[in-house]
Amino acid sequence: MCGIIGITSNKPVSSAIISSLRKLEYRGYDSAGIATLSNGAINEIKSEGRVDNLEKNPLIKNMLGSVGIGHVRWATHGMPNTINAHPHSSETVSVVHNGIIENSTTLKKYLINKGHKFKSQTDTEVIVHLITEYLKENDLKNSILKMLKQLHGSFALGIIIKDQPDLIVGARRGSPLAVGYGLNENYLGSDSYALKSMTNKISYLSDGEFCIIKKNQVDFFDEIGNKVNKKVLELSSTEENYDKGEFKHFMAKEIEEQPITLKNCVKEYIDNINNDINIHNFPWKLYEINSVTLIGCGSAYNSCLTAKYWFEELTTLDVSVDVASEFRYRINRFKKDTLYIFVSQSGETADTYAALDLCNKNKMKTACIVNVIESSIARDSNFILPIHCGPEIGVASTKAFLGQLFVLYIMALKLAFLKKNITKDNYILKIKDLKQLPKLIKETLLNENKVRSAANTFAKAKGSMFLGRGTSYPIALEGALKLKELSYTHAEGYPAGEMKHGPLALIENGMPVVVLAPRDKYYSKIISNMQEVIARGAKVLLITNKSKDEVVSENIWETIEVENINDDLIPFLLTIPIQKLAYYTALKKGHDIDKPRNLAKSVTVE
Ligand code: F6R
Repeated sequence: MCGIIGITSNKPVSSAIISSLRKLEYRGYDSAGIATLSNGAINEIKSEGRVDNLEKNPLIKNMLGSVGIGHVRWATHGMPNTINAHPHSSETVSVVHNGIIENSTTLKKYLINKGHKFKSQTDTEVIVHLITEYLKENDLKNSILKMLKQLHGSFALGIIIKDQPDLIVGARRGSPLAVGYGLNENYLGSDSYALKSMTNKISYLSDGEFCIIKKNQVDFFDEIGNKVNKKVLELSSTEENYDKGEFKHFMAKEIEEQPITLKNCVKEYIDNINNDINIHNFPWKLYEINSVTLIGCGSAYNSCLTAKYWFEELTTLDVSVDVASEFRYRINRFKKDTLYIFVSQSGETADTYAALDLCNKNKMKTACIVNVIESSIARDSNFILPIHCGPEIGVASTKAFLGQLFVLYIMALKLAFLKKNITKDNYILKIKDLKQLPKLIKETLLNENKVRSAANTFAKAKGSMFLGRGTSYPIALEGALKLKELSYTHAEGYPAGEMKHGPLALIENGMPVVVLAPRDKYYSKIISNMQEVIARGAKVLLITNKSKDEVVSENIWETIEVENINDDLIPFLLTIPIQKLAYYTALKKGHDIDKPRNLAKSVTVE
C-alpha cells in the first residue's frame, strides 16, 4: 500500500506528480502529498483524503521545482490526517515511504535525545531525521547507507535533499520500487503502472538496493554501496482501458466484463482444434510433482480454497491451501515434489510475495497466477500463468477472482489428464463445458432483479451469513468478504454443516442468510441445513442452479437460479449474484464502492 512517485527533470514537475498520484490512488487514499525543491528550499503541500483535495490547494498551481516526490497514503502508524500525510520533511530532507519501520520507537528515542523534533505520529519521520543527522558528517551515499543499516522492517523510499537539488534517492527492502527513463528526465515509482504514461523503459530495484536518480543518469548500488549494473526492460505498449464507460462504478463495469474475461481465458488456454488445454513451457516433468500448495490472500485465497476441491476431485495430487500471512511464518516442511502456486491479482501483495520469496530461497518449484504480468510476484516466480482480465480498478476483486478460478481449474484438469487420473473422453467433455462459461456468465448477469431487491434487506440488516458446502463453501466465504468490505456490516461465511456447532446461535428473527445450494452431491444436505436456519427465523436467499425439479422446501424468502453447467463449474456462476448483492447493498447505503473505507487495491505492507 501507499504509492510513491518521484520525478527529476529540466522543467516543473508538480503537475506530472499529481497526475501520477491519481494513477496510484488504488494503493491508498487516506491522504496525499507532494514536495519539490526550489529556490534552495523544500516546499511541501499535503492534504487529508483523496488526490482531488490536494489538487484543490491553491498553492499547488504555482508550485515550482524540477525535482519532486509525491505520495498517496494507506495509514499504518498514525491517523489518516494532514500532519501524518507524506512527504515528511526536515529543513534539509524530505521523504516518502511505503512499508513499516518496525524499530521506529527505538530510533525515535535516539533521535529525540540528539535534539530532533518530531511533528507526526508516523514511523516514517525517523528516516527524515536519521538522514538529516548523518548528512552533518557524511556525504550523501554514506548517509544513505548508514540510514538504511539502522532500519528494520520493509520499505520503499523516495528522498529529496535540499543541498542536492538535482537528484532523488530511491531505496527498497521488501516493498517494490521501479525506476523509469525519459528524455532529459527520469522517474521513481512504487510500480511500473505509475510510470507507464511517462515511459516504457523501466528498471526494478532488487531487495536491499538503492539508487541515485538525476535527470540524465541513474546509478544503482547494493546494500554495501557497490555499484550495480541494471537491465533496462521494455514494458508492453498495450493500450489498457481505465475508463468507467457507461457505468457508475468500476466495480459494476468489472462485474459485467466477466464474460469477456472468461472469453480471453478460453482463447489463451484452450486449444479449440485439438480440444486440449495449452500450458506452454511448463518447466517441470510430471513425475516431479506429487503435491500442490496454493497460497493467496483475501479473494485470491478464496479462489485457492475453491481449487482445493477441484484438485482433490480431479487429480490424485495432495493439495494444501494457505493464507500467505500464515504460511510465511510457519515451520514449513518444504518438499521437492510440491508445486507452490501463488495467486494474486496485483502480483504485489506483500505477504504473498514473502511466501514466494521463502519458497524461492528454499529452492522450491514456484508458479504464479497473476493479472499484472510486470509485477514482483510474476517476475520472481519460476513460471507465470496470467489471467488476462485487463486492469481491475475497483478495490473489491471481481473479474480477477473469476480469472483466477479459471486458471486454477485448467491447471487441475490438465494435471489430472496428464497424470491419467481422468479419461480422455471426460477431459474433452470438461473442456467443452469450459467453453460455455462466457455465454452462461452473460446470461446469469442478466438475471439481476431479485438480487437487486434483496439488497434492500441486506442494506438494513445488522449482519448476515453465507452458507455453502463443497465448492460453494469458498464462494460463501467470498460472498461474505465482498459484502463486509463494501457494506461495512458484519457478514460470515460458513460451511453449512458447521452451523450447529456454534454459529446457529447468531441466527435471529429476520436475519438475512444466503444459502448457496447448487444441485450437486451436497444438495439434499444443505437443504436440510437451510431448514435449520429458517426454523430459527432466518430470511433465506437461496441461490441454486436451474433445474426441471422444483426446490422442495418451504418458507424460503427468495430464490435465485443461475444457469446450468457441470458441477465443477457451478462456482463461476454462483459468484455472479453474490458480487451483485454486495454491489447493490453498498449502492443502497451510498458507500464509495470503488474505494471502500480503510482498504486499498494493492496490499504492499504485511
Ligand atoms: C477482496 C479483495 C482482496 C484481495 C487481496 C489480495 O475483494 O480484493 O481481498 O483479493 O487483497 O490481493 P491480490 O490478489 O492483489 O494479491
